[in-house]
Amino acid sequence: MPSSPRSQFVIKGGQVVDASGSRRADVRVRDGMIVDVAADMTTSEDEATVDASGCVVSPGLVDLHVHLREPGDEEAETVETGTRAAARGGFTAVVAMPNTRPPLDDAAVVSSVLAAGAATGLCEVVSSGCITVGRDGRELAPMGELHALGVRIFTDDGACVAHAGMMRRALEYAASLPGAIVAEHAEDDTLAAGGHMHEGAWSSRLGIPGRPSVAETVIVARDIELCAVTGTPVHFLHCSAAGTVDLVRAAKARGLPVTAEVAPHHFTLTDACCEGFDPAFKVHPPLRTDADIAALRVGLADGTIDAIATDHAPHTPESKEHPFEEAPPGMLGLETALALTLTELVEPGIVDLADALALLSWKPAAIAGLEHQGCDVAPGAVANLAVIDPAMAWQVDARRLASRARNTPFAGRTLTGKVRHTIFRGELVVVDGEATK
Ligand code: DOR
Repeated sequence: MPSSPRSQFVIKGGQVVDASGSRRADVRVRDGMIVDVAADMTTSEDEATVDASGCVVSPGLVDLHVHLREPGDEEAETVETGTRAAARGGFTAVVAMPNTRPPLDDAAVVSSVLAAGAATGLCEVVSSGCITVGRDGRELAPMGELHALGVRIFTDDGACVAHAGMMRRALEYAASLPGAIVAEHAEDDTLAAGGHMHEGAWSSRLGIPGRPSVAETVIVARDIELCAVTGTPVHFLHCSAAGTVDLVRAAKARGLPVTAEVAPHHFTLTDACCEGFDPAFKVHPPLRTDADIAALRVGLADGTIDAIATDHAPHTPESKEHPFEEAPPGMLGLETALALTLTELVEPGIVDLADALALLSWKPAAIAGLEHQGCDVAPGAVANLAVIDPAMAWQVDARRLASRARNTPFAGRTLTGKVRHTIFRGELVVVDGEATK
């Protein structure tokens, strides 16, 4: 095992799994590229060996939904700490959400995030761009200008585009921007505002105002119809409600260009977790019910849901140390997503390992239009890879996360499956679970 990143190495003894299938093979990486994939390679003197015995060698994971908090909230996360958390989680690309301060509605701000991402060299940082100026729903953001910088995912995430006419205008404008998709935070504020958890039996029992499932489904239904009239691809962020799965499934059956993601917390935790009033379990959209989890899992298994995305939302300990109703919503996700997927979906046989990796890598890469992510492990591809030990059990320790924040609801949980090494553009950025820079 090399003690520092090197540009020439062979990943030996692993099981390669990608969109083309699964096979035993060693992988030779040289100067950023995969140059050879074959069984039982011999290494030359000038190359190191990376041990992958017992491991899966996968295209690097791709997260469509990450809050890096830069600029404006660097005490919670920075591009550097967030991408280090991403690399430890096996991600070689993340899409940065626009609810920074100032928001990503301006070419200069987007450029600064892209530059910060390039400087860390820990994973590819893809910038989203706002749909509306200031994410306040009143005026379209300069989408063409942002598109010229490489932005393909437009979203006001953290806020829903409340006005149907504005959403239609955004979709019509995006239709003229090659590769552009519009990603919706589907929560109707007239139904959800003032609520802090899922509206149901638990919110009644706890006396906490609720955010009902219908706040999500009315917007999903509306945007599916707007997708139908404009033809522009619509992506639904952090889907949480059973009804959403039904609506997306029906939209796909109509042949509409609709995609959807689910966050690990939504397919693992319910509103009952809010019983102790612990703000670690507060998130928008909220944790819902067992029936919602069951529907999301069916959607993940049958292809209705296209991607697992973390909605990694760091908050400082000070801001989360408030009463439930005053604390900000959001939870960390980058360093636990793969293990939660393996533990909660693959181990019980809901999806197989290849389908899990599809949801975490090549399907989200395709949604974001990322040329060098989620690619088959084959000669000529840029070496963006994750080496995963699917059997390794480990305990989530919030103090040991690479993220600057600590707000994980999974602290103390024992999970199965760990990222052993991450390779970004041919460089070992994580070795034996630890970031190398
Ligand atoms: O819980 C959430 N937190 N949901 C969002 O949509 C935004 C996010 C954040 O930025 O903290």
